[in-house]
Amino acid sequence: MKVVIPAAGLGTRFLPLTKASPKEMMPIIDRPTIHYVVEEAVESGVDDILIVIGKGKHIIEDYFDRSWELENHLSINGKRALLPLITKIPDMASFHFIRQNSPKGLGDAVGLGRDHVGNEFFAVMLGDNITVSPVPVLKQLMDVHERTGGSVIGVERVGQDRVSQYGIVSGRMVGNGLIKVDSLVEKPSIEEAPSDIAITGTYVLSPTIFKLLKSTAPGKHGEIQLTDALNELAQQEDVYAYEFEGHRYDVGDVTGWLKTQIEFAVADPRYGDDICKFITEVIDRKCKER
Ligand code: UTP
Repeated sequence: MKVVIPAAGLGTRFLPLTKASPKEMMPIIDRPTIHYVVEEAVESGVDDILIVIGKGKHIIEDYFDRSWELENHLSINGKRALLPLITKIPDMASFHFIRQNSPKGLGDAVGLGRDHVGNEFFAVMLGDNITVSPVPVLKQLMDVHERTGGSVIGVERVGQDRVSQYGIVSGRMVGNGLIKVDSLVEKPSIEEAPSDIAITGTYVLSPTIFKLLKSTAPGKHGEIQLTDALNELAQQEDVYAYEFEGHRYDVGDVTGWLKTQIEFAVADPRYGDDICKFITEVIDRKCKER
């Protein structure tokens, strides 16, 4: 299965940084967010990755390419031990890039994968979302696809107060954490929301979605919404939502990024002790006086 990773958005929730720097390259410890996304795809068995980039996003392409100058520099300056850190990256998978010439929405970005993907089921993962679980979330969705033969959307319950920030699913439970989808609605008001089951950003999709995206009119915020095309898909083919096991980190806004950074640092054996000590000090010095 191939994966499409849209990473061409403007990242307005992270301005001013994103004026000149892609949010998908925001570091979590020592590697960019999109590196973790690719790692999850690879651990799920995917070896063909199409990344949708846009203006100012060429450093994503550079990151997954070889860097002969840097390799040479490390080799001749006694830093050979660092070489695997950078040489492994381009070998993780077969990387392909396509440009979205203006940020017309997630649906438009996914639609650009049509020629590369062809007439097969494929995966979509967001370039600014990291998930952590014993079995990679994409692998969990691929297994559900194997069992059901349908499209599968990763979802989580977000609580009624947050439904207006997400695509929301309506359907009936047909198994453990498995919902047969009747319809989907993008960012509904609390009154309109059919549930609090929210789309999180990992999908296994039927190629029919490409045809549907072509005829999807701009929706919320004037963007081509993937959720609108998925709603149409659910009227034509089997679409399931799956409450995956694991934790999702939205690194696309400042609070989400800060929390992810702290949690990953605490869990990292290289930095955890230091950071925990530091956090305890900060709580004493700063948090208590707030
Ligand atoms: P987001 O909605 O989080 O990205 O899309 P955004 O539009 O850049 O963010 P804000 O709301 O302005 O802060 C999820 C993923 O889809 C990509 C983004 O790069 C992100 O990784 N995306 C979004 C595209 O590739 N193209 C688009 O037109 C929109």
